[in-house]
Amino acid sequence: MTNSQMKDIMSKIQMGALSRRGVLAGGAATAAMTSAPGAIAQAATSAPTASAQPAPTMPVSFEVNGKREELTLDTRTTLLDALREHLHLTGTKKGCDHGQCGACTVMVNGVRINSCLSLAVQHQGDKVTTIEGLGTPDKLHPMQAAFVKHDGYQCGYCTPGQICSAVAVLDEIKRGVPSHVQADVSARPQVTNMELRERMSGNICRCGAYSNIAEAMEEVAGVRA
Ligand code: FES
Ligand code: FES
Repeated sequence: MTNSQMKDIMSKIQMGALSRRGVLAGGAATAAMTSAPGAIAQAATSAPTASAQPAPTMPVSFEVNGKREELTLDTRTTLLDALREHLHLTGTKKGCDHGQCGACTVMVNGVRINSCLSLAVQHQGDKVTTIEGLGTPDKLHPMQAAFVKHDGYQCGYCTPGQICSAVAVLDEIKRGVPSHVQADVSARPQVTNMELRERMSGNICRCGAYSNIAEAMEEVAGVRA
């Protein structure tokens, strides 16, 4: 790309005639981006914003830990960000933000989900339970108490997600939801160590508290003292 072609693209960006998306979409412009990323980035950030479209917003109403919440959100807001940034429920953690670690696990209508993979506006009328809704420091949920007793955490970053997942797992087993480690998926699932480990495999713990987490769950399920 010649200097004059580059200048032409940059002046179009500055005049608002070409969006950053337009630059990225164009093959020639992409080559320019590769050859002079600093110049393009500077031009893009100094471009006038008057012509920029406002982000679309939408009202959403759901229940969080038994309390009705009404929010108007950018439609791209994840449930995780709605909880943490808008409702200030920071117990739910952001680990990978890509559905890979389970730190953001919450329960929606009793079923566990990765809240980083779900848009908040999809949850109109839903009942969301976060770690703050399970117990309090004075009155721990049985799963929270069992995690303390069995040393089911070290740094604690993954723990809110682990506990929400663990509560939902025991409910899944009770409801007869099968897992991959069942030899016979039509049989009623049992609370075994392997069963719990399989079902908790989406919750990653960098501190490696896995065996203690499984023990805590077994106690709550009544198969271990
Ligand atoms: S933050 Fe959602 S799965 Fe990692
Ligand atoms: S307790 Fe540290 S990541 Fe799980």
